[in-house]
Amino acid sequence: MLVEKNKEYIVDIIDNGFEGEGIAKIDGFTVFIPNTIKGEKVKILIVKVLKSHAFGKVLETIKPSKYRKTSDCETYKRCGGCDLRHVEYQETLKMKQNAVQSLVNKTLKEKIEVQETVGMEKPLFYRNKAQYPVGLDKQKNPVIGVFANRTHEIIPIKECLIQNKESQEMAKFVLEFIRENKISVYDEKSRKGLVRHIVTKIGIKTNELMLVLVINGRKIPKEQELIKEVLEKFPNVKSIIKNINTKNTNVIMGKENINLFGNGYIKDVLGDYEFKISPLSFYQVNPIQAEKLYNIGVEAACISKDDIVFDLYCGIGTISLFMSKYAKKVYGIEIVENAVNDAKENAKTNKVDNTEFIAGDVEEVLDDLINNKKVIPDIIMVDPPRKGLDNKSIENILKVSPKKMVYISCNPATLVRDLSKLEEKYIIKMIKPVDMFPFSKHVECVTVLCLK
Ligand SMILES: C[S@@+](CC[C@H](N)C(=O)[O-])C[C@H]1O[C@@H](n2cnc3c(N)ncnc32)[C@H](O)[C@@H]1O
Repeated sequence: MLVEKNKEYIVDIIDNGFEGEGIAKIDGFTVFIPNTIKGEKVKILIVKVLKSHAFGKVLETIKPSKYRKTSDCETYKRCGGCDLRHVEYQETLKMKQNAVQSLVNKTLKEKIEVQETVGMEKPLFYRNKAQYPVGLDKQKNPVIGVFANRTHEIIPIKECLIQNKESQEMAKFVLEFIRENKISVYDEKSRKGLVRHIVTKIGIKTNELMLVLVINGRKIPKEQELIKEVLEKFPNVKSIIKNINTKNTNVIMGKENINLFGNGYIKDVLGDYEFKISPLSFYQVNPIQAEKLYNIGVEAACISKDDIVFDLYCGIGTISLFMSKYAKKVYGIEIVENAVNDAKENAKTNKVDNTEFIAGDVEEVLDDLINNKKVIPDIIMVDPPRKGLDNKSIENILKVSPKKMVYISCNPATLVRDLSKLEEKYIIKMIKPVDMFPFSKHVECVTVLCLK
């Protein structure tokens, strides 16, 4: 049977893909259908047909899954933040495990069994960082919210179920100030108007709050009043920052930060360590799960006091410090200079003296360390961005062949791609998903590799 655009079909959902979408077959031809769950029977409309697969949308759910639930969020369908609020939480953990397993089965020589996903006890209000776009509603009143799925239309939110509650209150308070004082908001089309984004960060353990106002200009009207009112209402605010972004760009924050109150950072505690968090440096957005992730990774690395350890893509040095107490020396490599400065300061504050942080591209710095400076690691930890590892770094890792490697990944597709190259010399001992982003399609995995 030929699958045709704009035609209706009744299909069984036979699996879920690694972005949460349901998968059906029509005479062997694969169709992806968002918002469906394995085991469901649905009537669909085909909306797009490509050579090897098609996309459909649900017209009617004929037989719902027993794991289907009514979403608890009013804006779920329009907002791009969550993908799985229509599924029972425990089932989302299984879906994530299965999705990684399918990729492993397809790509790797060794068909290792992916372990159960480590979930959250209370998967609510877990995000410590929010970036709210500021815009105008139909009545031309300033609003903050989230971008509607794949667009730049702002959907105002009443309560977001994954963002920290107090940060949300602070963002709404700042919006009220903008409204009352008739401060202009940025318009992407005309490139006019002042306030672009309200960014908030919170230390979950310390309760320290940061407020960043991203502006298209340099001066906020009634700046001092705003600072005073925010501090009166939220005494745990430790930093208020003005971030200058006058460029025509989708990138939220500009490079220049001006401190309006505090030192320009907040602190948080992970494990035994305190970390300094700046507006621009990477810090895991779900610290409760990050602590679990790091502990699993560090324990699995089985580091001993004779070991030289590399922490590639180290951010502000969180994993480096976790590993430092077991190792002889840890080298952290990170491209964002500010993050490296934070990492150095974090080591100092925590009285750790066996770490060295280097700013630069992993591809180049790793090559230099290994081939010029002849620093050879016994263990390598990597935690790259979504695009995974570059070829040169994989070659260098295979060349020095550390006895153990731990690969933390936020993208299972690039993870299995890289593992298939590392399989040449390594046995994959464990792949364990950790649910860093409950109810989203994202899956984080810790993988442990041992030299053959
Ligand atoms: C997934 S984060 C991990 C950070 C850290 N391990 C943590 O858990 O907080 C990836 C980090 O890699 C950095 N990064 C991205 N591309 C890089 C590159 N080519 N070389 C070095 N660092 C890079 C990013 O700035 C970011 O801090």
